[in-house]
Amino acid sequence: MRIGILTSGGDCPGINAAIRGVCKTAINHYGMETIGIHSGFLGLLTKEVTPITEGDLTGLLNLGGTILGTSREKPFKKTGIMDDCNKPELILNNAREIGLDCVVCIGGNGTMKTAARLHEMGLNTVAIPKTIDNDVYGTDFSFGFDTAVNIATDAIDRLHSTASAHKRVMVIEVMGHKAGWIALYSGMAAGGDVILLPEIPYDIHRIGDTILARLKKGKTYSIVVVAEGIKTDGRKRAAEFIAQEIEYETGIETRETVLGYIQRGGAPTSYDRNLSTRMGSHACELIANGQYGRMVSLQGDIIGSAPLEQVAGKLKLVTEHHDLVVQGRRMGVCFG
Ligand code: F6P
Repeated sequence: MRIGILTSGGDCPGINAAIRGVCKTAINHYGMETIGIHSGFLGLLTKEVTPITEGDLTGLLNLGGTILGTSREKPFKKTGIMDDCNKPELILNNAREIGLDCVVCIGGNGTMKTAARLHEMGLNTVAIPKTIDNDVYGTDFSFGFDTAVNIATDAIDRLHSTASAHKRVMVIEVMGHKAGWIALYSGMAAGGDVILLPEIPYDIHRIGDTILARLKKGKTYSIVVVAEGIKTDGRKRAAEFIAQEIEYETGIETRETVLGYIQRGGAPTSYDRNLSTRMGSHACELIANGQYGRMVSLQGDIIGSAPLEQVAGKLKLVTEHHDLVVQGRRMGVCFG
């Protein structure tokens, strides 16, 4: 068998470990041939492909980014690239010409949708969820998330001392798109006093009261963790908006930090390396069993899979019933 592999959407730590997991298992265990497709679905349009051999797989476990490159090309949408042709049809033809028996698509929510639709059209696809945002539906965790949470936790830890020295409120904005997973996990791990998630509406007066109540108790500084996707005035970034509002509400000097792309760069944690490895390897098992049109998933500690049509187009969001929210509230954390 000859399998293609592509990485699509925003990069995240662990992608290269997943490529290694797929290719090592495919080559060593199943005797499959592996072909790297460059720049996501764009490479299937332009036929930019190269064989991946065992020698190419050295040094990938801890390497950030993706050796295959990525793009946000969505072949079912007009993206300005090759819009004059029927892109899905072209992809099917190209995959046939290259002789691909299956395409492994490593990506986030957009990739799941594309992989599902290409599968419906007759292309054998298997998908692996990757995103620091952890918002892919149908899997407890996606790789990249643990690393991003660790990076954000370290950053928030560091803000405590400077906040304390200056008796300030520190607002830190973390990524997550429409989901608050990174804010919730890093905020709780680093002792955030206020944690704002897109999923839970906030009241700025309540946030101000929380910070002033802390001051009354002798807590001279506060840490506020905000997800980038929270509601703002629509003009300012989440951190800037919330910092200004807090300063206005409390009169306490407030500073903001936007963590940005640091969260998705560099080496994956050992947890993410192992998750990527397991998911990559499992993708080969699905292919060997002819189980196409599925996304590899993690349920508890079990690696399994779910039909792409059941996960595509859905978002996994934080709910107010999540244990970290429930326990956090009991401990006095303000979620807005
Ligand atoms: O990788 C996910 C993510 O980091 C989101 O949290 C963020 O909104 C988005 O990607 C931004 O990425 P880009 O600028 O590459 O589109």
